[in-house]
Amino acid sequence: MKNHLIPLLLLAALLCVSCQSSEKKWRIGISQCSEDIWRYKQNYELQLSQYADPRIDISILSADDNDERQIEQIRQFLHEGIDLLIVAPNKAATLSEVIDSAYDSGVPVVLFDRKTNSDKYSAFMGADNYALGSMMGAYIAKQMQATGTLVEITGLKGSSPAIERHRGFMDALQAFPGIRVISSELGDWTEESGEIAMQQILDELPGLEIDCVFGHNDRLALGARRVLMSAGKTDIHYYGVDALPTAGGGMECVQQGILEASCIYPTRGLQLMKLATDILDGKPYERITTLTSTIVNRRNVDILLAQYQEQQRVSNELERAKSKIDEYFLQLNQQRKIILAFIIVTVIIITLVVLAYRFYAAKLHLNEEMVKEILAGVTVAKEEPKPSESEAAPDTPPHAPALQPELTESSFLDRFRTLLQSHLHEPDFNVERMGEEIGMSRVQLYRKVKTLTGQTPVELLRKARLTRALHLLQTTDRSISEIGYEVGFSAPSYFAKCFKDEYGKSPGEMRNES
Ligand code: AHR
Repeated sequence: MKNHLIPLLLLAALLCVSCQSSEKKWRIGISQCSEDIWRYKQNYELQLSQYADPRIDISILSADDNDERQIEQIRQFLHEGIDLLIVAPNKAATLSEVIDSAYDSGVPVVLFDRKTNSDKYSAFMGADNYALGSMMGAYIAKQMQATGTLVEITGLKGSSPAIERHRGFMDALQAFPGIRVISSELGDWTEESGEIAMQQILDELPGLEIDCVFGHNDRLALGARRVLMSAGKTDIHYYGVDALPTAGGGMECVQQGILEASCIYPTRGLQLMKLATDILDGKPYERITTLTSTIVNRRNVDILLAQYQEQQRVSNELERAKSKIDEYFLQLNQQRKIILAFIIVTVIIITLVVLAYRFYAAKLHLNEEMVKEILAGVTVAKEEPKPSESEAAPDTPPHAPALQPELTESSFLDRFRTLLQSHLHEPDFNVERMGEEIGMSRVQLYRKVKTLTGQTPVELLRKARLTRALHLLQTTDRSISEIGYEVGFSAPSYFAKCFKDEYGKSPGEMRNES
C-alpha cells in the first residue's frame, strides 16, 4: 500500500461525513398580524412550500391584532437574524417604522395582504382591496335593486384593507343614491367586533330598518348577523369578504344561505413563498403582485367548493407521499451513517494492520541481517583473545569478562559472534557459559539476543555449529562424524538430525552434491 493511500482514505471518509451536513437554508421570518381562519389557511400553504423548496426554513409569529406585539416580534426576528421578512402589518401607520428599519438594515421585506405607509419594501403581494370593496359595493347595490338601507362594518381601523375596502365600497355606492349607508368603524376583523358594532347601531338607531349588511370580512358579517337574528330581524341579507373554502369558512356560509355572497380574498401562500425565494435567489421578480378576487354566490359556490376539495385531495396525497419520502430519506440517512462508520472503522483497522505489518517486517529484516552477520564469522574457528592482566578487572572471574553496561548493539553482537566462533566446538558450551563469558545472566542474555536477532542464544549456537559444519563438509575431506564432533555435537546421529532439519538434506547427501 502506498504511503499516501491511508490519509487519502481517511480524508474521503471525512468528506463523506461532512457531505451529510444539510444545504444552506433560507431563514424566513413571517410576521402575521392576527390569528384567524384566513391566516391558518395561508400559514398551512406557507408550511407546504417547504416541501417544494427544502432550502426554506420558515418561522411564523402571530401578533394577535396587537401592534406592539407585532413590532416586538419583528425586532425579535431581526435580532435572531433572518434572510427575509414576510409581513402583514396590523396597522399601516404603527408598523411602518419597524418594517422600514428592517428594510434599511438590508433584510428584504415582502408585504402581503396589508401595506405600510412607506415605500420601503422589496415587494408587495395581495388583492386590490379598493377594487374588492368597489366590486362588492356594486354587487350588493345591484342585489338591493339600488334602494334600501345598508350597514357597513369595517375591518380594523388603520389597517390598509379596511381603509381601501371602505373607499372602494363607498365610491361604488355613489352611483346608487337610493341606498342609505350606515358605516361602523368598530370592527377589528373579529366576529365579536362585528357583534359589538351591530349592537351599537341597533342601540343608537332602534327603529332602523336594515336590508343588507356588508362586513369587511365574513366573520364581521356573521357577528352582525348573530345580533340581528337575536333581535328577531330575520330577513336581512349578509355579505362579506374572504370566502374561505375551509370548514366554517365563507363558502360554506354561502352554500348554506347564511351569507348571500362573499368575495375570495386569496391567501396564495405558495405563490408568496416563491416570490420570497426568487428575491433571495436574486432572480427577477414583480415588485407588486395583485391577486384577483371573485365573488362567490349561490350560483358558483358548489363548483368552487368542489374544486377546492379536489385540490385538497391532491394536496393530501402529496403530503402522504412527502411523509413517505421523508421516512425513506430518514432511513437512507441512517444507513449512510452506518456505512460511513463501517468505512471509517475499516480504514482505521487497515491502517493499523499495515503499520503493524511494516513494523514487524522491518524488525524481521533487521533480525535476519543480524543473524547473517553473526553466522558470517563462524565458518572459521577462532580463539577468543585472552584478556591481558592489565585489562582484566581484579574481581572479575576469568570466564566472566564484565560487559560494559553502555555496550552498543554492534559491539555486543561482535562479542557474541566472537564467542560463538571461539567456543562452538565445545560440546558443553551452553547458555550458562555464554552468559558467564559475556558477563550477563542467562535471562538477560536470552532477552538481549532475542530482541536483536529474533532467535534464542541456543538457536543461534546450533545454527552457528551447523553453518561451520556445512562449510567443513564442502571444503574438507573429514568424515561426517569428525565434522559433527568438530562443531560441538557429542553424537553423530544428533548432528545428522539437526543438519537435516536445518538444510533439508543429510550431511552425506550434502557432501555428495558438493
Ligand atoms: O387583512 C384583511 C383581513 O385579514 C382579511 O380579510 C381577514 O379575514 C384577515 O384576517
